[in-house]
Amino acid sequence: MSNRKSRIAARFGAAAIDYDAHSPLQREAAQRLAARVKGLSLPAAPRVLEIGCGTGHLTRELLPALGGDWVASDIAPAMVRACRRRVGGAAQYIVMDGERPALAPGRLDLIVASLAAQWFADLATTLATLAQLLAPGGRIALVTLGAGTFAEWRMAHAAAGFAAATPAYPEAAALARAFPADLEVEVAQERFVEPPGDPLEFVRGLRRIGADTPAPGTQPLSAGQMRRVLRALAAGGGGTTYHLLYAIALRSSSTSQPRVTR
Ligand SMILES: C[S@@+](CC[C@H](N)C(=O)[O-])C[C@H]1O[C@@H](n2cnc3c(N)ncnc32)[C@H](O)[C@@H]1O
Repeated sequence: MSNRKSRIAARFGAAAIDYDAHSPLQREAAQRLAARVKGLSLPAAPRVLEIGCGTGHLTRELLPALGGDWVASDIAPAMVRACRRRVGGAAQYIVMDGERPALAPGRLDLIVASLAAQWFADLATTLATLAQLLAPGGRIALVTLGAGTFAEWRMAHAAAGFAAATPAYPEAAALARAFPADLEVEVAQERFVEPPGDPLEFVRGLRRIGADTPAPGTQPLSAGQMRRVLRALAAGGGGTTYHLLYAIALRSSSTSQPRVTR
């Protein structure tokens, strides 16, 4: 596992115990993804893989509604334990890197991931790998962060002459293109803007849920540089945008005529 991936797993693992108390946005996103998945036509007892289950915001919403054969996975062992404690015995639990799934191809009816895909090192390669796990007619349904996420934080860095350490996220069209071309993909988007508050709370909030691993290649700012960013943030009005992208991708049930919409 790469150093960055180990760090991602360690940071989320360390936050598992307090994650639920500090993740209202993540809970909301999971509920909204679950509502979209509940509207899909799925087999009566679907075979489901959840990637990046965390403490189970999505698992708790969807598993009781869908039933079936559910595997909840996460790269952080402490998250898997927390999910098992909260959701209980209706699922199987595994520690697994969603970019390297150890599952047989062609068997799953549904793969779900709520706010985990933005941590993948290579989104397109991972989506191609996951698509191979789908049975004909199977779906990938995920919510991830879009390009507008943390716009205020990025603008404050730019105004102060620096680049933010938050990772770059895709526009909706780029997310759709990241799926293999033989899947039929729909991407919807929403924006939530948290009102301005103490600028340092933004950083502390990411730390509390373990979502503070910086983008590859970024350098931490000095205390003086960070003060300049915080002044620019206050001057710009503050606030925190979350740009959520919901993608539902369908593997054709007929292998001879793949359906492609972009
Ligand atoms: C922001 S949390 C979301 C957790 C949960 N799905 C939720 O909605 O609250 C991201 C989760 O993805 C996991 N994660 C990050 N990279 C992963 C990977 N490559 N494979 C599997 N899980 C990963 C983290 O350990 C963390 O639990």
